Amino acid sequence: MREKWSSSTGFILASIGSAVGIGNIWRFPYIVGENGGGAFLIPYIIAVFLFGMPLMMLEFAMGRHFQSSVVPAFSRIRKRFRVAGFFIVLGMGMILSYYLVITGWVLAYSLFFISGISVPFAAFTASYYPLLFFLISGGITFFVVMAGVRQGIERLAKLLIPLLFGMLLLLLAYSISLPGAVQGLEYYLTPDFERLADPLVWTAAFGQAFFSLSVGFGILLTYGSYMRDEKIAKSAGIITVSDLLVAILAGVMIFPLVFSFGLDPAAGVQLALVALPLIFQEIPLGIFLGAVFFLLLFFAALTSAVSMLEVPVATLIDYYGFERKKAAALASLLIILAGLPSALSYTALKLQLFGTPLLDLNDFAFGTIGLIVAGLILSITAGWFLDHRIIFKEIGGSSKMQKLFIRIIKFFIPVILFINLLVRLITPG
Ligand code: ALA
Repeated sequence: MREKWSSSTGFILASIGSAVGIGNIWRFPYIVGENGGGAFLIPYIIAVFLFGMPLMMLEFAMGRHFQSSVVPAFSRIRKRFRVAGFFIVLGMGMILSYYLVITGWVLAYSLFFISGISVPFAAFTASYYPLLFFLISGGITFFVVMAGVRQGIERLAKLLIPLLFGMLLLLLAYSISLPGAVQGLEYYLTPDFERLADPLVWTAAFGQAFFSLSVGFGILLTYGSYMRDEKIAKSAGIITVSDLLVAILAGVMIFPLVFSFGLDPAAGVQLALVALPLIFQEIPLGIFLGAVFFLLLFFAALTSAVSMLEVPVATLIDYYGFERKKAAALASLLIILAGLPSALSYTALKLQLFGTPLLDLNDFAFGTIGLIVAGLILSITAGWFLDHRIIFKEIGGSSKMQKLFIRIIKFFIPVILFINLLVRLITPG
């Protein structure tokens, strides 16, 4: 018997755990800052609700219908489509391989703050500690997934997601009480509508939306295979809105800090790990706030990493007949091996290609381009080759809504994603 979520709440919390991650708390705020401030919310909300959420519903529907993970589900549509399934699983493994490196960084910083040690990011990355924390994060993720869908993944989400929301609210309350709050929020949310004419702003919105909602990783398809009779549209709505809310609130938390303490708001990727630790070390209560901030990031990252590891593990179990323990061990080992170059790219070894650290290259190849290709594969396979009655049965709703849904999946999403891919490939970076 296939293991199932113990309750709808468990399923929704686990899916929110997958969606809410480093992408929301660290990446979203600086992407907004770089892409037109408040105006970015327009393409982002379009990408989330017209593309991300329908693909999320589609993944849940396919998973529940086929009662299996990615590769077997694709091969049940057409035998030769299993290649597409493997592509998604491998791409997913590559994303997890560098995601665990970043998870390791935020784990290290949580521990530094808890123990009151101050370590500048440059000194941290010049050492081999990033490698050690990468291995520890991989180990924790392995133990959770090995414990199973209910005992591992669902239990972790039930524990960490409420904590995560509590910690976010606490930091928000502190942040908006700071003197630079208004300035910070103005920078974050004042729209620069001219930026909307730039196609790269739109592709940034799509990339960010897919990454943040965990769409195209095969995660939601796998999670869908553990569903019972939960309503797909309602569940996807709750997960999508929660993810969007955390992303927006993360910006509301970060920018007042940036302006109150005179940091550079355009510091981008550097902001969370380089600049924020410095101010947490200066301000009253800073050590406590720093520990809460990095633990928040770590909890968000861990619940996402766990959902990613479940994809290859479920495939090993369903397609190759592995036992869960062995599947989790083999998948973790391969992912850690694949992640070593990324982990070493930010150490004294500085593994780079064309002057870019391998971690960043992986993020571009798999986390950005790979996810768009996965979205294309999903929408084309389901829109053109899967019996639509299967989708209708799973998602329910009125026949008008169902027809609209199929049109979105069959035409709208593939065309726009294809354009997106072209723009991205012509103008990388
Ligand atoms: N959805 C996860 C994140 O936002 C992967 O980080």
